Order: sequence, then C-alpha cells, then structure tokens
Amino acid sequence: MKKIFALALCAVMMLSVLAGCGGKQDAPADTPAQNEPAAPAETTPDAPEAGGTIGVCIYQFTDAFMTTYRNALQEILEGKGYKVTTVDGANDQAKQNEQINTFITQGVDALIINPVMTSAADQIIATVQAAGIPTVLINREPTPEQMAVYDKLVYVGCDARQSGTMQGELILDTPNKGDINGDGKVSYIMVQGDPENVDAQYRTEFSVKALVDAGMEVEELNLTRGDWMRERGQEIVANDLAQFGDQVEVVFCNNDDMAIGALQSIQAAGRKVNEDIYLVGVDALDAALNEVSNGNMTGTVLNDAVGQATAAVEQMEALLGGATFSSGNQSVYVDYVKVTPENVGDFMS
Ligand code: BGC
Repeated sequence: MKKIFALALCAVMMLSVLAGCGGKQDAPADTPAQNEPAAPAETTPDAPEAGGTIGVCIYQFTDAFMTTYRNALQEILEGKGYKVTTVDGANDQAKQNEQINTFITQGVDALIINPVMTSAADQIIATVQAAGIPTVLINREPTPEQMAVYDKLVYVGCDARQSGTMQGELILDTPNKGDINGDGKVSYIMVQGDPENVDAQYRTEFSVKALVDAGMEVEELNLTRGDWMRERGQEIVANDLAQFGDQVEVVFCNNDDMAIGALQSIQAAGRKVNEDIYLVGVDALDAALNEVSNGNMTGTVLNDAVGQATAAVEQMEALLGGATFSSGNQSVYVDYVKVTPENVGDFMS
C-alpha cells in the first residue's frame, strides 16, 4: 500500500517538476528532463502520507508582496492538512538563522525559506543540509553553485529578467514609447528594491535594456534604492521630481509598493500619469491593479504569489516523496504576466 502511494506520489512529482519548469526559457542546460525524479519507493519510508509539520521563514512580514505570498502558502499548506508555523525574520538574518535552527530542533518535516539576505544562502543551505531537512527556498534566488551542494534543495521563484523586460515593454507600448517631450530620448528615474536581491538587479537592468533593444535612446536622471518600501518610493520620487521636474518622463519602480508611494508624490507635484509622466511597477498588488484600472499607473507585472506558493508546495511534496535535484537544475520558475489597462480586469478580484 505504502509502495503504491509512493509510486503515485512519484508520478505526481515528476509531472509537477515538468510543469514547474515550463517558464524557464533561457537556460537550456536546465531542461526538466534532467531533474532527477524521486528515488524508488523503498528509499522514502518516511514520506508522510498525510500532513506533516512545515516551518515557513519569511524575510519580513511588513513586506506587502510577501504578505500575499505567505498567506497563500499558509492556506495551501493547511488545506492539504499540514501543520504550519510561519515566522517573521524582521529583515534580520541572524534572527532568521535562529528561527531555522529552532525549526530543526523541533523536528519539522520540511522548511520553506525566504532568505533575508541572498548572501546568507551558503550558511542556510549548510544548516539544512547538516540536518537533512528537505528545503524549498523562495523569492530570493541563490546561485546554482550555492544550491548544488545539497540535492534535497530546490528554489521556486520567477525569472526577474522577464519582469524587467515587461516593464520596458509597457513603456514601449505607450503612444510615444516613453519619449513624452519628443526630444529623442526617454529620461527616467529608477526606484530600486534592495540591491542585494537579484530581483532588484535584474528589473533595473532589463527594464532599460528593453527600451535600448527597441532602438530608444535613454537617459538615467537618477537611480536610488528604496528597499521595496512604499514610504521610500514616495520620498525618492518627491526628491527627484523637485530636482528634475518635467525632465522626468518615466518612473520605473522595482515593485508596486514603491510605485504606490511614487504615485502619491507624482500627484502631489501636480503631474498626471499617462499624460505627462509614465509609472510602472511589478507585483500586481491590489492597490496597483486599482491604479492601473483608474489610469494612475501605466501598468504593472503580475508576480504570481499564488502560482509560486502552489509550486513551492508541489516541490516540497516532491522532496518529501524522495525527489532529489541535480546540480544546475534546482530552480523552478513561474511566469510573470504583463498587466495593462486592457487586461487589468482579468487580475482584479
Ligand atoms: C517583490 C517585491 C518584494 C521582494 C521581497 C520581490 O519579488 O517584487 O515586492 O518586496 O520580492 O524579496
């Protein structure tokens, strides 16, 4: 009976690995077929048949996007009968390390970890490996080399390059391709997330690259780190508009929470989005969807929290079923989706 269950789990796991990797386009070496499926049933005697205890570590509860994400994780896991404890790292890596150790001491069956610092990945991986705990990392992607040391480890996230490219495309889709004043170049400000995070790095790079690749000339008026936070977005854009005024044609924000802050300053400065300035974010938070639909944001990009939470749980179950991941093949990506005034209704609940 147990063997049949394990084989079934194996099959489900293989399917989910294949499905989960579908979004990954630009890393041909990582073909889904190279994933090592679960070892045969006899090597997985401990796989829980229902339920199990799961520890979830979130880098910071006050992060708007990660709040949606953790709520989705909790709901999916509890819906499947797992006992879940979710803890707040409060943006403090030392605190998160303690939380991971506590979960290990408590004997959780699996961990889902959103690291505080990508640079701490080596240490986190060494810790879970020493304890032999199947682990899904989410949201902050380590390098393939960092992950390669532990085969019961998988990363679930999105390819941040895609979201940057889509932000650039949102600007290219406007009537003047972002060159509102017709001087032959797109003058922008960039409000960056935490630059330690690859999402911030890639969005910053690829949003502008999309414009350049389309033959546009670009001018960066300013780039400032806003650490993903709404108040920082507001402050930064208020300062930049005071300094650069009408020169600012495009405001790129690495996420929606900062874009919502930016919008407050844009409105306070008497500017009008989609008329004399463009504004784009990433995440598709409810607040941003409202603003896209009202015409106060040019667009955003869906960072699919529910899709990622679903994939994270699928991969966790694969690991619990005995799956191992081979080096260079430990990232599972969920696609981003461009959100425009035309399709925003599809994303609003
Ligand atoms: C999201 C941000 C969030 C960050 C946290 C990114 O993928 O777009 O909104 O603050 O993850 O690491």
